[in-house]
Amino acid sequence: MKSVAKAHANIALIKYWGKEDEQLFLPSTSSLSLTLDKLYTITSVSESDRDVFVLNRQIQNEKETQKISRFVDLFRTNNQSVKIESINYFPTAAGLASSASGYSALSVALNDFFGHHYDVEQLSMLTRRGSGSATRSLFGGFVKWEKGSNDQSVATPIEKEMDIEMIIVIVNEQQKKKDSRSLMKVTKEQSRYFESWTQYNDIDMQEMLTAIENEDIHQIGKIAERNAMMMHATLLAIEEPFFYIEPQSLEVISLIQELRQQGIVAYYTMDAGPNVKIITNSQHRPLILERLSAYQTIVAQKGPGATLL
Ligand code: DP6
Repeated sequence: MKSVAKAHANIALIKYWGKEDEQLFLPSTSSLSLTLDKLYTITSVSESDRDVFVLNRQIQNEKETQKISRFVDLFRTNNQSVKIESINYFPTAAGLASSASGYSALSVALNDFFGHHYDVEQLSMLTRRGSGSATRSLFGGFVKWEKGSNDQSVATPIEKEMDIEMIIVIVNEQQKKKDSRSLMKVTKEQSRYFESWTQYNDIDMQEMLTAIENEDIHQIGKIAERNAMMMHATLLAIEEPFFYIEPQSLEVISLIQELRQQGIVAYYTMDAGPNVKIITNSQHRPLILERLSAYQTIVAQKGPGATLL
C-alpha cells in the first residue's frame, strides 16, 4: 500500500516567528500566508521494515530520519515502519519554506496511510508539530493560523478571490546558514524587541485582515513589508546579531522601492533566507520582471490546498 500527497508552499504576509511551547509548536504570534501554485512537494508513504526518509532522491541521515520518525509517531498505529519519499519541486532550504509543503504533504499522506480520516482541524493541529508553517499549507489561497492556546492552534482559509501574485527573486540558492527553528528560539530568549514584535504582530494581523477584505493590494503589500522587516529586526537585537538579508537582497529591495516610486505595485517580504519575494498583481508583473531580468525569478499565483493523489 502506498499513499501519495501533494502540498504547495506558502509565503507568510504576517510572519510566525517564535514559539510559546516548543513541544506543541504553539506559536507566539498568529500568522497569515498565501499558498503558491508554482512551489510544491509530492510525498509518498509506503510500508517498510524500518523508517527510511528519502528527500529529493537522497537517503537522509540518522538525525533527519529520527526527526521525521517522531512526526510519524503522531499518526503511527501497530508500530508499522514506513518509507517516506519526498520531492520538492523548487530549491530546498533557500528560505522558500520547503518544510511547509513537505510536512503538509506528509500529514495528508500519513492520514491516509494509517487510515485515520482526521478532519482538517485535527490535521492542522498535527501538521503544526512537524513544522509550524506547514499547518498553513494544508489550505489554498490566503490562510490564517491563529496562535490559540492549550494546543488549540489551527489554520483556516480566508475566502477571497483577488488579483495578487508573488515574484520570488532567487539571490542565493545555497542552504541557509542558520535554520529558522533554532534561530526563532534564540530570538524569543534573547531579542530585546521580542515583546514588541508580538504586540505589533497582533496589530498587523488585524490591519491585514481588513486590507484583504477590501482587496487593497497596496495596504496588503505595505503591511507585509513592515511586518517582515520587524521580524528581521528582532534578529538584529539578539546577543550575536544575525542577518538573513544579504547585499544582493538589499539591491533587489532598492529596485522595488524605485519601481514603487514610479507607481508600480511592488512590495517585498523576506523569510529565513536571502531571497526576496515581491508582492504584486498581474498588471504590474511584466514590468517588474523586465527590470529584474538579471535575476533568477519564479512567478507564483495563488495555489490550492494539500491533496491526496
Ligand atoms: C520565517 O515553520 O520553518 O518562514 O515551526 O520550527 O518548523 P518550525 O519553523 P518554520 O518557520 C517559518 C518561519 C518563517 C515565517 C513564516 O513562514 O511564517
